[in-house]
Amino acid sequence: MRIDPDTHWENDIVRLAVLTPDDVGDAYVGWLNDPEVNRYLESRFAVHDRAAVAAYVKSMFASPVSLFLAIHSKALGRHVGNIKIGPIDRHHGLGEIGLMIGARDAWGRGIATHAIAAVAQIGFRDLGLRKLTAGCYADNRGSRIAFERAGFTVEGIRRAHFVSDGRFEDLVLLARFADN
Ligand SMILES: CC(C)(COP(=O)(O)OP(=O)(O)OC[C@H]1O[C@@H](n2cnc3c(N)ncnc32)[C@H](O)[C@@H]1OP(=O)(O)O)[C@@H](O)C(=O)NCCC(=O)NCCS
Repeated sequence: MRIDPDTHWENDIVRLAVLTPDDVGDAYVGWLNDPEVNRYLESRFAVHDRAAVAAYVKSMFASPVSLFLAIHSKALGRHVGNIKIGPIDRHHGLGEIGLMIGARDAWGRGIATHAIAAVAQIGFRDLGLRKLTAGCYADNRGSRIAFERAGFTVEGIRRAHFVSDGRFEDLVLLARFADN
């Protein structure tokens, strides 16, 4: 989404800032190619390089229906992952959230929980959305817990939706409404 690249949001744990092609370094590209990180991400079916990732970040910045943000950990003092609201559906007041904490040493510190809570505020207060949605593999316990701690509830299960490591896995659908 085309907004002032200096715009940022923060709480005690994270600072969210507009992601630009300059943020695309070896660390970020490495997260996308790390099998432990991408285990539950659809991006795992491709091998990523710097040029392709920078082009993707640029396209997100130009997109009127996506806000793509870098997550900075305040405790670690660095960029540890990304979070996106998009696609945004203005007709229905909807926004889909996806995230990746790519730096494995940043896991289990409440960073996903606080990034989701911050992005929910942006979605409701700044973008005027009515409902935020997300989905995770049923096995992705950390993701589900983080969304639930950030005020999301499970609104459905799509049975045997994915093929993961040669077996079928459910998709858990989560949502949070603006007046929560
Ligand atoms: C899943 C993910 C978002 C969790 O991020 P995080 O910053 O570690 O999450 P939080 O610290 O806010 O953790 C929420 C809770 O889940 C727990 N948790 C995290 N990973 C877990 C796992 N693999 N199994 C069980 N619990 C887990 C955390 O310990 C924490 O609980 P606690 O406070 O009682 O210890 C992160 O590991 C990640 O981005 N993974 C790779 C990409 C991905 O799966 N993205 C989500 C797609 S829907």
